[in-house]
Amino acid sequence: MIKSFVKLISKNNVLEQIRYASQALPQLSSEKYNIKRKTFGTIEPSDVGYFRSILGEERVLTDESDVLPYNIDWIKNCRGQSRVVLKPRSTEEVSTILKYCNDKRLAVCPQGGNTGLVGGSVPVFDEIVISFALMNKIDTLDDLSGALVCEAGCILENLDNYVREHGLIMPLDLGAKGTCHIGGNTSTNAGGLRLLRYGNLHGSVLGIEAVKADGTVIDCLRALKKDNTGYHLKHLFIGSEGTLGLVTKVAIHCPVLPKSVNLGFFGVKNFENVLKLYKSAKSKLGEILSAFEMADFDSIDCTVKNLKLPNPISEYPFYVLVETHGSDEAHDSEKLTRFLASEMETGLIVDGTVASEPAKMQTIWNLRESIAGAGLAGGYVFKYDVSIPLKNYYDLVPILRKRLGDKALKVFGYGHVGDGNIHINVTVPQYTKEVSSLLEPYIFEEVSKVNGSISAEHGIGFRKPMYIHYSKDQSALQLMKDLKQLMDPNGILNPYKVLPDAV
Ligand code: FAD
Ligand code: MLT
Ligand code: ZN
Repeated sequence: MIKSFVKLISKNNVLEQIRYASQALPQLSSEKYNIKRKTFGTIEPSDVGYFRSILGEERVLTDESDVLPYNIDWIKNCRGQSRVVLKPRSTEEVSTILKYCNDKRLAVCPQGGNTGLVGGSVPVFDEIVISFALMNKIDTLDDLSGALVCEAGCILENLDNYVREHGLIMPLDLGAKGTCHIGGNTSTNAGGLRLLRYGNLHGSVLGIEAVKADGTVIDCLRALKKDNTGYHLKHLFIGSEGTLGLVTKVAIHCPVLPKSVNLGFFGVKNFENVLKLYKSAKSKLGEILSAFEMADFDSIDCTVKNLKLPNPISEYPFYVLVETHGSDEAHDSEKLTRFLASEMETGLIVDGTVASEPAKMQTIWNLRESIAGAGLAGGYVFKYDVSIPLKNYYDLVPILRKRLGDKALKVFGYGHVGDGNIHINVTVPQYTKEVSSLLEPYIFEEVSKVNGSISAEHGIGFRKPMYIHYSKDQSALQLMKDLKQLMDPNGILNPYKVLPDAV
């Protein structure tokens, strides 16, 4: 019996509190989105007995209250009906589990930190959750080449703390770093706040070990920068959201820890000036630019008000966050301060602050990273993560405000300008089909008209397979389906996700 959902989850982090504080248990995904269960096997007590025989009692969760958090996604939009969570500790255990599930046609849902924002990490029906939480060992770190090899369940922030002790950083950083796993990052090809500088995971991930649906272990765990021996199979697992195989180990290239880090937070009077500022930052900050993020007034206002976070400058229509990573503190901070002064003179920056002290920089980053969860305090958030050519980057926000009128509490835009990726959040007191149908497929149609991507970062997951054709043509979708058939002929890996039923 579920007494109080709120009581089941005890986390200290602000975003987690916001996430669970105000809401009731979400509706079942299958009902909310009218999905029919596929003809998979149904888990029997003998199956649970088998899993216990290989993992032991403690690593097979069946108690309803223990399983519940694994059924609900971060934004509390999706709820699955799994009754079993398995917690393997090794690749061999993952392989044994999958072989058994494949033979019995039991569907599985791989789960990392469960911070995904498209419902991919939680089951839809009774898929068995395979949690990577206990696969959290670091294998090796070569501090000369920067190659880190670790298990999929390592938490991103823990890895970053570890490699920092060796003069390196993780090549990606995101607001969910304290919870998300490197295996989840890889499976979603997570972008984040530093992609502008360090590139995406198709570049940084050197090698992968993964397990196919039938239990075969695919060893592509090379820690080499260059390896042109045939097909680059690791890429099949990067961004495929657990539908082609389960990632068990990752080899990743870690850049050198920058000796000097500086951060600027600027107020800007309109979006046109945000773009001009971006152009100027690329030219004036050049090789040291590591992030160029923007947030509109409502994004910051909502975060300041709902999460009680301080805004270090006054209120402006747009805010820009510019970070530099370099090797010479005097040179870098002077360069950023000069940039601020010159762009205040041109009027592109109306007001701003520059910081290099860790605590002050943390306050500014915190404000930016917390936007993701800030809207949840108002009830429900429709979240979009689209790629749009920069000249049209912000167009949809005012259009949506007009389209939704008072049906939305707020429509706000923020994101990774340097990557052409905007996040549009629409906050409402509660989910309604009416608002949903005003937003979808409308947003995807508009994005498609300008040749954008309906998902720049978060993936397709459970929420967007029916819209994937706005960004992938028929022949590409057919090839994706053929690959799925080849690697997972029984379709047991993360069903109802990524691929639409009809291609
Ligand atoms: P999960 O949410 O557990 O899973 C995500 C997907 O990967 C699911 O489909 C799951 O089945 C699959 N999966 C997980 N582990 C494995 C595995 N070992 N093998 C195979 N499949 C697996 N995303 C960005 O790209 N950029 C951002 O800046 C960003 N910021 C965020 C900020 C916040 C506050 C939050 C809550 C989310 C943010 N996200 C961002 C989204 C999310 O954090 C990322 O997608 C992250 O990479 C997911 O990692 P995870 O371990 O939580 O994976
Ligand atoms: C971000 O950039 O903050 C993340 O992708 C999360 C979000 O979209 O809210
Ligand atoms: Zn993002």
